[in-house]
Amino acid sequence: MNTTKGIILAGGYGSRLYPLTYGVSKQLIPVYDKPMIYYPLSILLIAGIKDILIITKIEDNSSFRKLLGDGKKYGINIEYAIQETPGGIAEALIIGANFIDKNNVCLILGDNIFYSEKMEIYLSKAQNNFIDGFSTIFGVKVDNPSEFGVVELNSDKEIISIIEKPIKPKSEIIVSGLYFYPNNVLEIVSDLKPSNRGELEITDINSFYLNKQKLKMIDFSNDVTWVDTGTYKSLIDASNYFQQFEENSGRKVACIEELVYKMGYINKEQLTEIANDMKSSEYGRYLLEILKYD
Ligand code: TTP
Repeated sequence: MNTTKGIILAGGYGSRLYPLTYGVSKQLIPVYDKPMIYYPLSILLIAGIKDILIITKIEDNSSFRKLLGDGKKYGINIEYAIQETPGGIAEALIIGANFIDKNNVCLILGDNIFYSEKMEIYLSKAQNNFIDGFSTIFGVKVDNPSEFGVVELNSDKEIISIIEKPIKPKSEIIVSGLYFYPNNVLEIVSDLKPSNRGELEITDINSFYLNKQKLKMIDFSNDVTWVDTGTYKSLIDASNYFQQFEENSGRKVACIEELVYKMGYINKEQLTEIANDMKSSEYGRYLLEILKYD
């Protein structure tokens, strides 16, 4: 059966966070109480994806493996691949081609954090778009659109163009780091040429689908919290936001252990083992509380 596989792209220099990222990959540094990669991983899980490839720099690969292993303890499959140098976001699809095989793919950037109560509905819409061969991107509103792929919309809110890092942006809506592509993306990416800055641009893939009228955008600008954790400020803002949210609601965001348990991928015994391992931390005790009331 044709399913959707997940890829987390977790390489890059992280140079805006130096010296934080000299010794550790950006996607492993904490956002409040968990490593950053938990957030994009939780999005793939909410999309119902259980087969996941994590792409990292060579020197960081073993740290990601140490953190998440082969996924068995979460009842999912996690594989790993290496990006030799940051050759562009679209390169993830070339590196992951064998892993994607004959399936659809959801690509998410390892430093993009999304949170919404409605996330499951949005992601199942994107999965449904595959039925008619559509790709899906997710638009968010930002103050600094020139740093991203900017979406130009007509009065019917249809996309007219997507321009990578324009000097004069046509809107404040940009393409966030979450993309759903049907299997034919593998043909498209294999023909892609590097841009002037020497990268395989994800915007070129999105523009290809746009020109074929096979691209849909889900608007995340109203009720989705989105953080691109590339700077000191966005990093600390994200930590503060999730600390507040978790304290106010009594619930954890992007708690992958809770998610896989609620989805039935692991049973009570398995969650107990994970929780006991972490019982000296507040995170571990949160998991033990879940078990108590279940
Ligand atoms: P960027 O924000 O473009 O780059 P970066 O994270 O390396 O940061 P900086 O600008 O501070 O040097 O990347 C967005 C995300 O995509 C980030 O998680 C890194 C990842 N990425 C790769 O893994 N490989 C790549 O080739 C590129 C371009 C990005």
